[in-house]
Amino acid sequence: MSDAIRQLYPVFGEAQPLQGLYLAHDLRQYRQQSGKAYVYANFVTSLDGRIAIADPAHQGTKVPEATANDRDWRLFQELATQADLIISSGRYLRDWGAGRAQEILQVDDPRFADLRAWRRERGLSTQPDIAIVSASLSFPIPDVLTAAARRFIVFTTANPNSDRVAEIEKKGGLVFVAGDEETVYGAQMLDILTDLGYSTVYSAAGPQIHHLLLSGGVLDRLYLTLTPRLLGGVQYATIVSGALFSPPVDLELNALYHDPLALDGLGQLFISYNCLGQASSP
Ligand SMILES: NC(=O)c1ccc[n+]([C@@H]2O[C@H](COP(=O)([O-])OP(=O)(O)OC[C@H]3O[C@@H](n4cnc5c(N)ncnc54)[C@H](OP(=O)(O)O)[C@@H]3O)[C@@H](O)[C@H]2O)c1
Repeated sequence: MSDAIRQLYPVFGEAQPLQGLYLAHDLRQYRQQSGKAYVYANFVTSLDGRIAIADPAHQGTKVPEATANDRDWRLFQELATQADLIISSGRYLRDWGAGRAQEILQVDDPRFADLRAWRRERGLSTQPDIAIVSASLSFPIPDVLTAAARRFIVFTTANPNSDRVAEIEKKGGLVFVAGDEETVYGAQMLDILTDLGYSTVYSAAGPQIHHLLLSGGVLDRLYLTLTPRLLGGVQYATIVSGALFSPPVDLELNALYHDPLALDGLGQLFISYNCLGQASSP
């Protein structure tokens, strides 16, 4: 990979390679600084804020082909590599069951062999553990997710379906109620994760889970890849979905890079923000 990335903030930097850009953020340095797990999320978005659009082949949404790209995917993998737990959603496992999703951290992909080594050198398991947020508990559990001593955790709402809880526990999952009958709360979830010993947590989930992390005041950093494309459309998802934040969540720019090579030379921006927002729910 050529040295193409230019840092624009906080300093105007020399051209540097894509590979290693987000490993250099060294997210594991923040663990236990506050006595809580450090939580970060990431989205690739169009200029008009679409992270997902309607999928005509299925009910539901998918990441637009117009924004997905290998260079963003490399950085997504570098973020996932640094986690000891990845958060995803019931939707993700339903997509997996339907053959439309796969492992989040792609350690078996030869392009990411260095990331596998990065984890091994730090004494981390090959795969981070996984936490699924789901009210319905209606999802299949791929065997590979509970193999090789990987911990599979489910956060759900109050009074969950006891048959489903028993089925998940029989497959080796740990089920925690972390909310009321309506919603999982980010702060309750983070307390449980911290008690379980997690220190570096990556949310690869979508807009509703992003909302509960923000409204619970537990998100520390937001990574965005901004592709300079307008997609339009009327059915789409943005980076956050849920009740209005009152007050709004404030974020402070952490770093900004220009990648001129993405999308056949159209380019894209890699942006990260530190969250300053405060908790507004339990
Ligand atoms: N462009 C990007 O970077 C990016 C990143 C992430 C996701 N996406 C896309 O965005 C779309 C939506 O992703 P997603 O479904 O993972 O997003 P999501 O809206 O965060 O999660 C949806 C599912 O999570 C559970 N859930 C969410 N909030 C909850 C709450 N407060 N309490 C309890 N359970 C809750 C529910 O599962 P149950 O239905 O099982 O109850 C719900 O169906 C997908 O097309 C995905 O591919 C794009």
